[in-house]
Amino acid sequence: MTPASIEDYRTLARQRLPRALFDYIDGGSYDEITLAANRADLRTLRLRQRVMWNVEHLDTSTELLGQRLALPLALAPVGFAGMMARRGEVQAARAAVAAGIPFSLSTLSVCSIEEVSKAINAPFWFQLYMMRDRGIVRELLQRAQSARCSALFITVDLAAYGMRYREVRHSVGSSFRLGRLAAKALNALAHLHWTRDVALGGRPLVFGNLAGSIPNARTMSELSAWVNRQLDPSVTWKDLVWVRENWRGPLIIKGIMDPDDARAAHDIGADAVVVSNHGGRQLDCAPSTISALPAIADAVGDRLQVLMDGGVRSGQDVAKALALGARAVLFGRPWAWALAAGGEKAVGAMLATVKRELESTMALQGLTGIAQIDRRALQSAWSPE
Ligand code: FNR
Repeated sequence: MTPASIEDYRTLARQRLPRALFDYIDGGSYDEITLAANRADLRTLRLRQRVMWNVEHLDTSTELLGQRLALPLALAPVGFAGMMARRGEVQAARAAVAAGIPFSLSTLSVCSIEEVSKAINAPFWFQLYMMRDRGIVRELLQRAQSARCSALFITVDLAAYGMRYREVRHSVGSSFRLGRLAAKALNALAHLHWTRDVALGGRPLVFGNLAGSIPNARTMSELSAWVNRQLDPSVTWKDLVWVRENWRGPLIIKGIMDPDDARAAHDIGADAVVVSNHGGRQLDCAPSTISALPAIADAVGDRLQVLMDGGVRSGQDVAKALALGARAVLFGRPWAWALAAGGEKAVGAMLATVKRELESTMALQGLTGIAQIDRRALQSAWSPE
């Protein structure tokens, strides 16, 4: 199949990846109500159609945190994404650089900060969790600073771990029931294909950024267990003041769903917030991000750059988020799917698809520049929750 839409990359990823890995990317927490709401609420929105405007010259570029971007889009931090393809984060980062948008590297990446920095020789963003061992946090901050990372995310929505039932059911090592032999055989084939390409094709899988801190962890589950022990539920805004003092570049707080929390992010000196429910992977039954966005943009949009992620799957969705106050959006699963489907080339093709979709959306709305996309771009009868 030649992928036409972002959802097509999901289909390809499902065919190619071992089931446990596909479920790891795809799943959300508990009953996946918030995961579904992110998509459903974006789909409900209707764009205003305008005609007879000169839309010959379209410009999708924008400014974000002092950087000029070709699209109002960045790749979100996705832990273990490097398992989707050989040296996966490097491949995705290269595709992002070629497309003129930022790549974000998760703390929990397969490729290290230094490997990505050396491979792409361009700035990228780094994402950090506050861990109990502040020595590790300090060291990661220094490494990100030395690698000239151009922005730092602190992800704040992991005070507890949202259980993902799909991961529990289909985790690596769980047994298959009788009667599902066909599925088992197919999965084994996918696994072989994936293993040849990923695990055997490059260097062995070690977890780049944390290899020195947890030398004995060699598998995803060993690392996950260590991370779960390290997540610090006692973190408050006071700890982020410390981060602010120790990070010289732009600071982005990721995981904000409430205007009061957005104001608090401003008070500690953040430059941007990401309206995010972790792609529906943490608090199930939290609102969709697109429904939470307008109130947050109204509360802090004049002081902070407001980004959004969760369920964005097309150029039309990008336009909807911008219309409701986002300055840019992040893609999580889409780039992991594309990476699994065909590495750097597929991530590049997926980003080119989004650009084309955004351009055609703008043209059919009579808009030629990103700054023109505001609430008037939505059908007026629709009102946010
Ligand atoms: C994530 N996300 C995430 N966020 C973060 O700050 N650090 C991380 O390590 C991860 N890891 C991670 C793994 C996987 C498999 C997924 C799907 C997501 C959340 C991510 O950055 C982003 O907020 C969501 O993925 C956005 O939603 P969509 O685009 O996936 O719907």
